[in-house]
Amino acid sequence: MSRLCFLLVPFVGAIISVYGQGGFTPINTDQFALAVSDFELPWADAVAACTARGQSLLSVDSAGKDRVLVDLFVNGGANMTLPGNNSWIGATESREGAWIWQSSNEPLYYTRWMVGQPDDISSINCAYQAVQALLYWRDANCSAPMYFICES
Ligand SMILES: *[C@@H]1O[C@H](CO)[C@@H](O)[C@H](O)[C@H]1NC(C)=O
Ligand SMILES: *[C@@H]1O[C@H](CO)[C@@H](O)[C@H](O)[C@H]1NC(C)=O
Ligand SMILES: *[C@@H]1O[C@H](CO)[C@@H](O)[C@H](O)[C@H]1NC(C)=O
Repeated sequence: MSRLCFLLVPFVGAIISVYGQGGFTPINTDQFALAVSDFELPWADAVAACTARGQSLLSVDSAGKDRVLVDLFVNGGANMTLPGNNSWIGATESREGAWIWQSSNEPLYYTRWMVGQPDDISSINCAYQAVQALLYWRDANCSAPMYFICES
């Protein structure tokens, strides 16, 4: 291998990860192309990282889709375990108490909050799936770094 190669490989790797193409595991089903991050970001950065891939942060906007996700990531269909305990989804508060899906601006008609969630604390405005708790949803500080799933 030439010396140039040693210089170029990390450089190209850095460019690829800046543009959001690295650090994801693709999971393809008939309905969705999903990409599971192997790194953590704050919620808004997770949205940006998905956008950079031409995808959006996962919306869980129907019972049917939720069931597919549980089959994939709880029941083993994806042949992988989601990393960490927490995985951001694309739900956020447009104002206190008004939850929307970021990618569509639609209100959350379908929800699967954990009992006692969301907290309705003014500083806690983003939602995640609890990986160890059947993907039930909780809300959290949007600044917390978490794993996430992009979809298209
Ligand atoms: C998981 O592995 C099974 C058996 O190899 C395969 O049929 C299935 O398509 C895989 N699932 C995904 C989402 O790749
Ligand atoms: C995940 O949650 C479990 C149970 O609450 C905890 O013991 C564990 O340390 C957590 N793991 C990570 C990576 O935070
Ligand atoms: C949210 O998290 C950020 C980063 O960890 C922290 O600086 C901030 O104080 C937190 N806000 C609240 C209200 O907990």
